[in-house]
Amino acid sequence: MLSQQDLKEQAAEAALQYIAPMLTKDAVIGVGTGSTADLFIDGLARYRTQFRAAVASSERSAKRLTEAGILVLDLNQVETMPVYVDGADEINAKLHMIKGGGGALTREKIVASVAREFVCIADESKLVEHLGRFPLPIEVLPIARQAVARVIASLGGKPVLREGFVTDNGNQILDVSGLTISDACALEQQLNNLPGVVTNGLFAMRGADVALLATQSGIRKL
Ligand code: 5RP
Repeated sequence: MLSQQDLKEQAAEAALQYIAPMLTKDAVIGVGTGSTADLFIDGLARYRTQFRAAVASSERSAKRLTEAGILVLDLNQVETMPVYVDGADEINAKLHMIKGGGGALTREKIVASVAREFVCIADESKLVEHLGRFPLPIEVLPIARQAVARVIASLGGKPVLREGFVTDNGNQILDVSGLTISDACALEQQLNNLPGVVTNGLFAMRGADVALLATQSGIRKL
């Protein structure tokens, strides 16, 4: 029986095999955040001479990439990337995701938007039929926290402030449980339209293009 850690390692390794043909001396790779993305970074170090640089979706990943000897560029220095690789808190069969358990959702969404392909890597426990059991993270400007929380409560959600946590952008996170996510694209847009919301953790309008999910019987590609 493989542990969750073994499965995450397998997913990270599968992503490395998947992106290997995309590595050229000019290629810049988009890199996500989290424990699965960390394992991907560790493996990417083996390929560091085969591509130019990476763009990180968090300070945490930027540090790990730098320690692995990989050049980290600011997104403003980069026009396009062949691929963005990241984990997820939940993913469904449509490749819509909930992300932001690590609090990096805003930069993740921005970096992913510049990449041609989004590769989601996860262990099979992240695959769900319906999104929403994992509380949906919403990054808010601190001044808007209560105003946004009241609107979310009126939509049936239960917002909880992530205590003691400040995002890389200097903002706060509301973790929202109890929302019914029947139309993920519509909800993603609705939440993003609330004044003071920076980003919400629904990645549906731009979901993953490929998911490499590690199972007890090998990699499942969606
Ligand atoms: C961070 C994220 C992560 O991708 C998500 O939380 C999954 O993390 P892990 O690989 O540790 O399970 O969205 O903001």
